Amino acid sequence: MSIDQKFLNLFIKTTEKAAIGASKFIGKKDKIGADKGAVDPMRRELNKINMDGTIVIGEGEMDDAPMLYIGEKLGTLNGPKFDIAVDPLEGTKFTANNQPNAFSVIAVANKGDLLSAPDTYMEKIAIGGNLPKNLLDIDNGVEKNIKLLAKAKNKKISELNACVLKRPRHDHIVKTLGKMKVNINFISDGDIAGVLSVIGTNPKNDIYYSTGGGPEGVLAASALSCFGGQIQGKLVLNEEEKIRAKKLGIKDFKKKYNIEDMIKGDVIFCATGVTDGDLTKGVKDLGNEYEVTTFALHKSKKINKIITNIYNK
Ligand code: FBP
Repeated sequence: MSIDQKFLNLFIKTTEKAAIGASKFIGKKDKIGADKGAVDPMRRELNKINMDGTIVIGEGEMDDAPMLYIGEKLGTLNGPKFDIAVDPLEGTKFTANNQPNAFSVIAVANKGDLLSAPDTYMEKIAIGGNLPKNLLDIDNGVEKNIKLLAKAKNKKISELNACVLKRPRHDHIVKTLGKMKVNINFISDGDIAGVLSVIGTNPKNDIYYSTGGGPEGVLAASALSCFGGQIQGKLVLNEEEKIRAKKLGIKDFKKKYNIEDMIKGDVIFCATGVTDGDLTKGVKDLGNEYEVTTFALHKSKKINKIITNIYNK
């Protein structure tokens, strides 16, 4: 069932208001303040929408509230049932330090269509569209996956670009990619943008290969699904996280989630820049107004646009 297009502008407004809230903390070295600056207006806007919404991907579980927590009900409860994934501020560090690529993001699907994952790490590999289904598998290891990708893309291995989140836990990935002469584009944070760097006609990267947040994985999968891209993820859970995962209905802790396990059917995805970035421009303070820019997708309506809006202060 497709989502009514009238909801697109309403969800765009939620990330735009969140981005404006977070923008007041740009360069202020206050990650917590910036996050809260995004969460409060996002919640306010979501609660105005005529829907029966439930957060399935959020900022932690109920005990950790005040954030938009998993299980939180949103909207007037008078309207369609939606599952909602949010990261009100992706790039808290980027915002605090006035660096590029901070944005506010939401994905909305019909009830039951989005994976509910705890706020834990997820091992991820992602590739763009027009490639054979299930081409890669996390359990293949880096070398085999890269060889399969080069063959499918009809490229030399040395022509491939890989995006890697710079963390010591990825040293083994970097070592193998280096040995194979794959070009590596490191990111210091923000792996939703990292994953999405594999889409488009001339993408910056051929593959994203790292472990980042599970919520970010599902959000990125929602956008990727609008471009025919692929992602596979595997949750990384310690004992305490396994208990939380069980509460969300996850029984198989070793399961590899393919894109259709993370997002089924229609989806609306909106990302509004806080600072300038690869996806959109950041919030511009024009004196009496704010100018905001949003990357908006609505899968069933084939909407893929960048829009700019102005809000009075
Ligand atoms: P926040 O802005 O929510 O802190 O997330 C930034 C981020 O870089 C994500 O994009 C990524 O998935 C995760 O943190 C990686 O976590 P860690 O910094 O612990 O490696």
